[in-house]
Amino acid sequence: MTVIRSHVIGCGAFLPNTIVTNADLAARMETSDEWIRTRTGIRQRHVAAPGEKTSDLALAAAHAALANANCTVQDIDMIVVATTTPDQTFPSVATMVQARLGMTRGFAFDVQAVCSGFIYALSVADNFIKTGQIRSALVIGAETMSRLMDWNDRSTCVLFGDGAGAVVLNAGEGAGTAADRGVLNTRLFSDGRLHDLLYVDGGPSTTGTTGHLRMQGKEVFKHAVTNITAAIEASAAASGVAIADIDWFVPHQANQRILDGTAKKLGADPAKIISTVALHGNTSAASVPLALATAVADGRIKPGQLVLLEALGGGMTWGAGLIRW
Ligand code: ACO
Repeated sequence: MTVIRSHVIGCGAFLPNTIVTNADLAARMETSDEWIRTRTGIRQRHVAAPGEKTSDLALAAAHAALANANCTVQDIDMIVVATTTPDQTFPSVATMVQARLGMTRGFAFDVQAVCSGFIYALSVADNFIKTGQIRSALVIGAETMSRLMDWNDRSTCVLFGDGAGAVVLNAGEGAGTAADRGVLNTRLFSDGRLHDLLYVDGGPSTTGTTGHLRMQGKEVFKHAVTNITAAIEASAAASGVAIADIDWFVPHQANQRILDGTAKKLGADPAKIISTVALHGNTSAASVPLALATAVADGRIKPGQLVLLEALGGGMTWGAGLIRW
């Protein structure tokens, strides 16, 4: 049986120039490099310059991914941007990227699932391709989380950073087995009852302001390890793949302790976990494609290997996707 598969034909990333180290934060508030590093693994984060917008970061990552895929925007049918920090409440960042890429065909829209956004966007694009409605998609995760921080709340503002990552998907053929190249499956989950664990205390229909991020860190931690492990197991099982067969895990980069805890619960080799949290901090929907682009660029992820992407975020939302590279 021949099936349509979404092949990943390129990926790219962009980080703003300004780096804020833990020492920089310790100079501004009552915290320390030691506290941040031991609890989160984070050493530094990139922060957008004044006037630098989420769409600027998304556009730069899109250019990098298109160049890596060796294709032009005229080859793209759909742009989907995962973001929780759009330039404006509307229109979408995706349509801004569409205009600035000079794309005069197809369609573009944003997906909002906070830190799980890239997995959701990948799933949407994969399903558009699998149904034959489009042949190619640019999938972007882009965030300026620094703009959502309460800089007086040391328990949250030290965790986040800004950045963007992108992949280009293209329709290909497969036999319908786990040996196929491309996206083998995605698995999405949410539980809206967990709203209060992680949210922003503002919005257009409530305060009329952007608001600030609020989090119950310990509770998020507990749900993260349990739910991410379950999502990974669901994705592996959907394609009949054993956890031990997965070559690389590309997790959402929230906290090194969550990555370590998940690896332990899964019984996965920690050497197979791609970690960029030390250098990027938590970049929400951008973190998975940023980590992916890092591991592809440095040669760790190779054609034919099995790559498992996963994330959890506000909502709560969580999910996983399995790709044969
Ligand atoms: N520097 C110094 N001290 C701090 C800081 C800081 N930046 N932040 C909090 N503290 C203090 C607190 O005030 C508290 O002091 P007290 O004992 O005198 O009251 C103490 O440190 C312990 O605070 P806790 O909040 O209990 O710290 P905890 O050990 O739980 O660590 C953390 C906090 C790192 C956020 C942890 O809960 C965690 O990793 N949670 C996971 C959540 C996460 O990563 N979220 C990211 C977004 S969600 C996602 O992307 C999956």
